[in-house]
Amino acid sequence: MPKKQMKLGAFLYPTGHHVAAWRHPQAAANAGSSIAHYREIAQVAEHAKFDMIFLADGAGTRGTEADLPALSRTATRYVAQFEPLTLLSSLAAVTSHVGLVATATTTYNEPYHVARKFASLDHLSGGRAGWNLVTSTSPYEAENFGSGGYTPHAQRYERAREFADVVRGLWDSWDDDAFVRDKESGVFFSPEKLHVLHHKGRHFSVRGPLNVARSPQGHPVMVQAGSSEPGKDLAAATAEVIFTAQVTLADAQSFYRDVKGRLAGYGRQWDHLKIMPGVFPVVGRTRQEANDKFEQLQDLIHPEVGLSLLQATGGLDLRGHDLDGPLPDELPPTEGGKSRQQLLIDLARRENLTIRQLYLKIAGARGHWQIVGTPADIADQLQERFEGEGADGFNVMPPYLPGGLVDFVELVLPELRRRGLFRTDYEGPTLRDNLGLPRPAIGGWAPAARAFEHAAE
Ligand SMILES: Cc1cc2nc3c(=O)[nH]c(=O)nc-3n(C[C@H](O)[C@H](O)[C@H](O)COP(=O)(O)O)c2cc1C
Repeated sequence: MPKKQMKLGAFLYPTGHHVAAWRHPQAAANAGSSIAHYREIAQVAEHAKFDMIFLADGAGTRGTEADLPALSRTATRYVAQFEPLTLLSSLAAVTSHVGLVATATTTYNEPYHVARKFASLDHLSGGRAGWNLVTSTSPYEAENFGSGGYTPHAQRYERAREFADVVRGLWDSWDDDAFVRDKESGVFFSPEKLHVLHHKGRHFSVRGPLNVARSPQGHPVMVQAGSSEPGKDLAAATAEVIFTAQVTLADAQSFYRDVKGRLAGYGRQWDHLKIMPGVFPVVGRTRQEANDKFEQLQDLIHPEVGLSLLQATGGLDLRGHDLDGPLPDELPPTEGGKSRQQLLIDLARRENLTIRQLYLKIAGARGHWQIVGTPADIADQLQERFEGEGADGFNVMPPYLPGGLVDFVELVLPELRRRGLFRTDYEGPTLRDNLGLPRPAIGGWAPAARAFEHAAE
């Protein structure tokens, strides 16, 4: 039997994932407005045989006028970037094999829109579309949709479950061979091959059918990002890929066992869900070179940006204090995440960190798993997590673009291939072919909302 190989996504943030990436001398600072930039990196990813490119999204800049001192120095807070489906539609035309995964929220969209757009992308890319289903937590987004505040967690997930069912129901509107388009007889489609949804639920009333023919993959690949209990259940019921953010091997393994263990309850197989943690690799030919590259990025973090990270992650307002001194003794408690705040304070006190050192510790990978090292160091850690059942693959988060992706392709991929851990060619033309996922049969899936109702009974 051939050796099991890892799946790889290229997670593209416009200028890269490091908070100061856009200032790197080799970063394309205008990336968020440059189709030429995206075309180049999509082609790099495809040439390297990545399973997919992956785009996160948020329909709102993460900050207000009060945040301008830091916001105006940041490119990673949805300040200026393309809407993902529009961008991927353009990239579909200049690629032929790489999967195209876009984030679309269930909180502010309607399922008919989402079903229609992703089915269209699946057609126009020849079967390479994937939908990253998220629930929106950002108050900045809420303010763009007139909701006057954001919806509570449980309600967001309840809506998301029904949303996922409606979308999948709409994708089943037509049999594969429904459109006969017989000029002779004048029959355009066979009426018995049409399935009208007639959905009426708590959140949505959707008649259907979808006005897009069944797409090459049947359903675009379902991706999910969210790790709470309802998040894990939704993933076990509906997702075929999960993008996660576990940092340690032990946490990754326990998440992996937990979510995969839930699949059987939804009549699904262990292998039909690929768990792909994010990884932020800083690669050098030597460890010294890798450290130098990382330090070069860290040195570019402006103090305003560093301080705003401490505020955003731990509710610590340290403006006005000496950056190269210790944390003040008295700190007002936060109304935000109290455990996160305590974690930061404990870390600073334990390691005797200055304010600057503290923000540098949490900058960089924005909370994701970070590896700074040689190609062998990085391959060792990926291999350990892959073979130790902590991951089926990884969503690679280049520190800056395009250079950080090129480094991974030129330095780490040859090492993974030498170990037989990554493909040398695509298995097929569709994203499902490459991820090893089955093509869904019409109606051949368990509705998530109904499963949850039963669980609650
Ligand atoms: C790794 C990861 C990536 C995410 N990416 C996005 C994103 O691109 N856009 C978005 O609006 N929400 C994103 N989310 C937010 C989730 O959809 C969800 O709202 C959030 O994680 C809270 O749900 P949870 O408590 O189940 O984790 C992401 C979450 C995780 C864990």
